[in-house]
Amino acid sequence: MRDGVFCIKVYGCQMNVYDGDRLRGAMTSLGWTETADALDADAVIFVTCSIRDKAEQKVISELGRFRPLWEKNKRPKVTLIGCMAQRTGANLARRFPWVRVVAGPRHMGDVPALIAESMDGGVFLRLDEDPSEMADLECAPLPRGNPHKAFITIAHGCDQFCSYCIVPYVRGRFASRLREDVLNEARGLVSRGVREITLIGQNVNTYGKDFGNGTCKNYRFADLLEEVSEISGLRRVRFTTSHPVDFSGDILDVMKRRANVCPGINLPVQAGSDKVLREMNRKYTRAEYLATVGRIRETLPEVGLSTDLIVGFPGESREEFEESVSLIEEARFDLVHSAAYSPREGTPAAARSDQIAPPERARRLSKINEVQSRISSEINRGQIGRVIEVLLDEPAPKGEGLLQGRTVTDKVVLVKAPAEMTGRFRSVRITDASPWCLEGELL
Ligand code: SAH
Ligand code: SF4
Ligand code: F3S
Repeated sequence: MRDGVFCIKVYGCQMNVYDGDRLRGAMTSLGWTETADALDADAVIFVTCSIRDKAEQKVISELGRFRPLWEKNKRPKVTLIGCMAQRTGANLARRFPWVRVVAGPRHMGDVPALIAESMDGGVFLRLDEDPSEMADLECAPLPRGNPHKAFITIAHGCDQFCSYCIVPYVRGRFASRLREDVLNEARGLVSRGVREITLIGQNVNTYGKDFGNGTCKNYRFADLLEEVSEISGLRRVRFTTSHPVDFSGDILDVMKRRANVCPGINLPVQAGSDKVLREMNRKYTRAEYLATVGRIRETLPEVGLSTDLIVGFPGESREEFEESVSLIEEARFDLVHSAAYSPREGTPAAARSDQIAPPERARRLSKINEVQSRISSEINRGQIGRVIEVLLDEPAPKGEGLLQGRTVTDKVVLVKAPAEMTGRFRSVRITDASPWCLEGELL
């Protein structure tokens, strides 16, 4: 073991935030110190993402920037973990000599020791070869910005194989973490002052379906959600993401029954046309999806509902695209995470010959964003005058003396408040609204 300075840079989804948080915990307990400036570090860790080409290009350009420093000092040594590390990390290590450790998402447990070893020279590759293997990092997450908020991964991998998506290839097979491990981690976090926990997975509602015939045979996501919410001192529990296919009524029952389970659901629809949904391998129709939305709104009238949507999937006609537009008009989401389709090598959709031209994908994306920003704005303006409980998270990125917080439905609220109020729950009267956030005053 040695003392050194490390820097972690996270790209991609919340699973990467969680992996970065666990690695921070492990490195810190081994005696390393963290810096925010990569150029000051001995070891720089990139937690990478492959979901779209843009996510990968960002990391490639960041990696290129180390050249002058490396040529002068032979530092920092760079570690690549996460999905892009699994997909192309070996090539990146050949291209950039400062890349010294590459590990797949299922070899997180080896990473702290490999980083220490790499300080003395050598290049270390630990890629996931068998998509079911697991050498996980047994370390509680140590969140950076917000000591009162944390993520917990409850299941690794994904078995859905949506035709456009790289995740099943880089994150491997679906595997639920054990109930005891999740609960112990949650209890530990709450005892350290965490007040909000988000349970994460590519498809949380499938939790437990792989437990087979053991003692946990019939233990499902709704049970886990309920047990986590019973931890005393935990003020808010969230979860993401839910696949529309197994979004069952028992999850809604727990959300209704347990006051600290936040009424917020991200239910990715991906497309509004049955033909496109079928070709995406999403396994539901537009009507089935909208029926689920109806059921959710009936049970939880105050719910905050968001979705993910891809435009310009191969073969998507203008009319089929218009069905996505009409779907978001009909469902009236609070938020839509929209993206232009990005071909991922090795996925069935990328091999199709009927790709939509990139300028047309961009045009469809801006149309979706235009429609949704009107809807979000209408929904958010409807909040003006209401008094809402806000967990104050951190100083707002812009605006002197402003703190940024979140409502139970995960809307961003900006309020004038002293920095000492960070981490507190406060009642806020909403005074203004835009498509992206609310503004308010402390009561
Ligand atoms: N498991 C989640 C989503 C994980 S990926 C689910 O099934 O909904 C996050 C989002 O990235 C997806 O919902 C999808 O909208 C988007 N995405 C995935 N692959 C993509 C691709 N090849 N091009 C563009 N967007 C993509
Ligand atoms: Fe990708 Fe589909 Fe799995 Fe989500 S459910 S991670 S979109 S394959
Ligand atoms: Fe990206 Fe991997 Fe998450 S591809 S979105 S980091 S699961």
